[in-house]
Amino acid sequence: MNIQFILRLFKTSIGRKMLMAATGLLLAGFMLIHLAENLLLFKGEKWYNGWVDILLSNPVTIYLELGLLIIFLIHIIMGVWVRWEDWINSRARKYEKINYQGGRTIGSSTMLYTAIALLIYLTYHMLTFRFVDHSIGFYQMVTSAFRDKIFVAIYVAGAIALALHLSHGFQSAFQTLGLNHEKYTPVIKITGYIVAILMVGFAFISVYYLFGFDLKSAIDMSEPKVLETIIK
Ligand code: HEM
Repeated sequence: MNIQFILRLFKTSIGRKMLMAATGLLLAGFMLIHLAENLLLFKGEKWYNGWVDILLSNPVTIYLELGLLIIFLIHIIMGVWVRWEDWINSRARKYEKINYQGGRTIGSSTMLYTAIALLIYLTYHMLTFRFVDHSIGFYQMVTSAFRDKIFVAIYVAGAIALALHLSHGFQSAFQTLGLNHEKYTPVIKITGYIVAILMVGFAFISVYYLFGFDLKSAIDMSEPKVLETIIK
């Protein structure tokens, strides 16, 4: 695949849809990796900060972040462009409804709204976790932020928007890329739903710290020691 081919994709309507699909799948992959990274919070401060240290000390990370930014930008720009074209075309065809691939579901009918919600969420996420002073340590920064109700409400809403977006976006992307087969499509659909449900994990992490389950389990674990010292 050369740069000429990619540039040609921008020029046709189906090409733009394919770019949106391909970048969407790459972003879904990133979300799964990011979820796994954040599950390290449950292993404790050493593990989480240790992993972030490995990432930040690796010179390749900056290029990966740049690649991720480009993928996000292509996905967003193609999304707006494709939507705009669909709207113009449906007006030309006297308000004919958009024909969603895979039938009409909550996920498909809310794609635009979940996309807008995710954009707002992501801006908030970057402003609160990415472009801030990290001197207190990443673990401290994340877990102390999750003690706040409003903060967690935004994270839960973001995770739900992401789950809904992927519940349709995942399978739709495969269809756009031409993978439409009576044997594989049901498997892709189910995989899409599983990936979508996994995204609720982001909400679970934030709620876990809001309710102080980490503190409760720390107390439970220290109880035998407390008892031992009392007995002694
Ligand atoms: C429990 C929920 C989450 C936690 C604790 C979390 C944590 C973090 C942290 C600490 C960073 C900054 C890393 C750095 O400065 O290098 C980050 C970056 C990022 N997060 Fe999240 N995140 C969560 C959910 C999400 C969700 C739901 C999305 C997408 C909708 C997302 C997308 C991103 C992106 C795109 C970056 C920038 C990439 C990077 O700098 O490595 N995150 N996240």
